[in-house]
Amino acid sequence: MAGRFITLEGGEGVGKSTQAKALAAALRARGIDVVETREPGGSEGAEAIRKLLLEGGADRWNARAEALLFAAARADHVAKTIRPAIANGQWVMCDRFLDSSIAYQGGADGLGVEAIKALHSIGSDGFLPDRTLLLDMPVFDASFRQSAAGIGQSDRFEKREGAFHDRVAASFRAIAEAEPDRIRIVSAEGTPEQVTARLMAALADLLP
Ligand code: TMP
Repeated sequence: MAGRFITLEGGEGVGKSTQAKALAAALRARGIDVVETREPGGSEGAEAIRKLLLEGGADRWNARAEALLFAAARADHVAKTIRPAIANGQWVMCDRFLDSSIAYQGGADGLGVEAIKALHSIGSDGFLPDRTLLLDMPVFDASFRQSAAGIGQSDRFEKREGAFHDRVAASFRAIAEAEPDRIRIVSAEGTPEQVTARLMAALADLLP
């Protein structure tokens, strides 16, 4: 079986991590061998960089240093975890990837899409997912979900103001419009089961 690389993207509080698990389970039920991973992290070196990125005060890194750290973590993750699994015929289900850097550092922090793509070209040879699923929901509903669930405000990014998260959401939509073959927008509203079914439908053409 050919390996595939699937990424799941979206802002805070859209239920992305829950869906990553549910989608991996749905793929396994079809006999697919799935490796679940996430960014920043997913390999030993990248997990060490994750701690640097997510802990500490909101001003610990400036946007440029942050973009470099995400790209460095991604380079290690691609080389040590993602490429070997795909070469082994497995499907890799990754919670966040390059498009998060484009939306957060490129869009919301203003570094620009091209700068982030240049870093990805150096770090990971421009390696891209076969399909990216973008979970979409109004920012207000997402922050309500987070506070209702008692999460949020726990890492350096979640501490940022509402306008930052609005810019993230707008950037994600712009990326999806620019690459409709790779990136599919999936509504995150409704029950978790409904969302998982929509995600599976958005992978239908890749399924064996
Ligand atoms: P989360 O995926 O657990 O929500 O946390 C990761 C945080 O890091 C999230 O706020 C988004 C942010 N992030 C970036 O800003 N750029 C990136 O490239 C990645 C992978 C994550």
